[in-house]
Amino acid sequence: MSESETKYAELHLDGKVIRLPILEGTEQEKGIDISALRKETGYITVDPGFFNTGACYSKVTFIDGEKGILRYRGIPVEELAEKATFVQTAYLLLHDRLPNEKQLKAFSSLLNLNSMLHEDMRHFFDGFPRGAHPMHILSTMINALCTFYPNVDMLSLKEDINLSATRLISTVRTVAAFAYKKSIGEPIVYPRYDLPYCANFLNMMFDSPVKPYEVNKDVVRALDLLLILHADHEQNCSTTTVRTVGSAQVDLYASISAGVSALSGPLHGGANQAVIDMLRKIMRSEGNIQKFVERAKDKNNPFRLMGFGHRIYKTFDPRATIIKKTCHDLLEKLKINDPLLDLAMELEDIATHDDYFIERNLYPNVDFYSGIIYRAIGIPENMFTVMFALGRLPGWIAHWQEMISQNTKISRPRQIYTGKTLRHYEKI
Ligand code: SDX
Repeated sequence: MSESETKYAELHLDGKVIRLPILEGTEQEKGIDISALRKETGYITVDPGFFNTGACYSKVTFIDGEKGILRYRGIPVEELAEKATFVQTAYLLLHDRLPNEKQLKAFSSLLNLNSMLHEDMRHFFDGFPRGAHPMHILSTMINALCTFYPNVDMLSLKEDINLSATRLISTVRTVAAFAYKKSIGEPIVYPRYDLPYCANFLNMMFDSPVKPYEVNKDVVRALDLLLILHADHEQNCSTTTVRTVGSAQVDLYASISAGVSALSGPLHGGANQAVIDMLRKIMRSEGNIQKFVERAKDKNNPFRLMGFGHRIYKTFDPRATIIKKTCHDLLEKLKINDPLLDLAMELEDIATHDDYFIERNLYPNVDFYSGIIYRAIGIPENMFTVMFALGRLPGWIAHWQEMISQNTKISRPRQIYTGKTLRHYEKI
């Protein structure tokens, strides 16, 4: 933008007028560039939780929270959910374009070739206690990958990133399935070259020497769709974590491992497991939904309706709309009647007609219905957030590589100090 076209915000401060450049993105999002503020005024801005603060420029994902719009590299998530596979979506996020036939074949083959864990890593699973949460195992194993495989060289980013990204997207499936098999005391099942991404994961999860797993196309399609819908979501907590850790020039695996930890929180990706816990609690209280809704509205009660509300969406999360429909379709095809789905829909109906939720624009988010589908597929509840991480991997990697390619400075926010003023050491 030329100097003459640039618009400015004027800040009147201590008798001075500071002009701050106005920035506008390709979707007309507007921001105020405060990068010179402290130098010019000695002041900083303060915005705990970053409700009003942009951390970076990004070309990966666009969200309009008021209109419920979500696009990956410009393509509406509804179109990708309907027409693409997760592998195509991962390629789109990583390369800013959908793959052609040849590129898709090469990417799929690389995913298969890199789906096995280093055999020495298998022993790590023997070290985890039986009840270890799979998200802790996942974060640990991803970090351990960088002790077995070369780190992405920050300089020769291009050729390494494709291999490291593919290895991560592929082996994380294997880590998840191995962790599940270990937790139920069954022999682990290796990835197969002849199965596509989702079917391969399901086979590693559910195949057994005494009961071969039959791949169900409806289940594969539902899982593919869920992974697509979780693939990226701009600067959410875990992606910001990946970008922040990566900004210190930490390698890709360790940066992603930090993202997995952030995602595990119940306010973030851990909500999909917390929703089922909540629905089961409501079920146990003879379905007294109103009691839980009142509790969620009570300021003095820490209880929140899990799977409800969102920092960005002030209308229906477009992903929740698609997942809700997929829920119905899959349970019908599998002839499953899950009382938790009926309960979830009743809860949604009550809450979305309650002034407290309406005034605060609180609607079901991506986590509200996803657990019902995972249950129908047979995935255990403590693996739900692992499924979220499987989906989010391509997004995390795309942001990490964007952050590196932008020569991003190390993330180091300022603060307003509110502690003790100067005082001195006193002998005991
Ligand atoms: C994800 O950022 C992303 O993009 C995340 C994500 C992604 O794809 O990466 O979309 C995935 O994390 C989805 C969110 C999953 N989390 C949950 O479902 C947990 C339940 N939701 C809430 O904890 C909450 O809605 C958050 C954490 C999601 C967002 O909270 P904010 O933006 O910090 O807003 P807030 O807590 O300040 O809430 C604003 C008001 C408050 O009331 P008042 O103080 O104004 O009176 O709304 C209330 C809150 O008390 N509120 C809720 C509520 N969510 C917000 N009240 C009851 N139940 C809820 N779920």
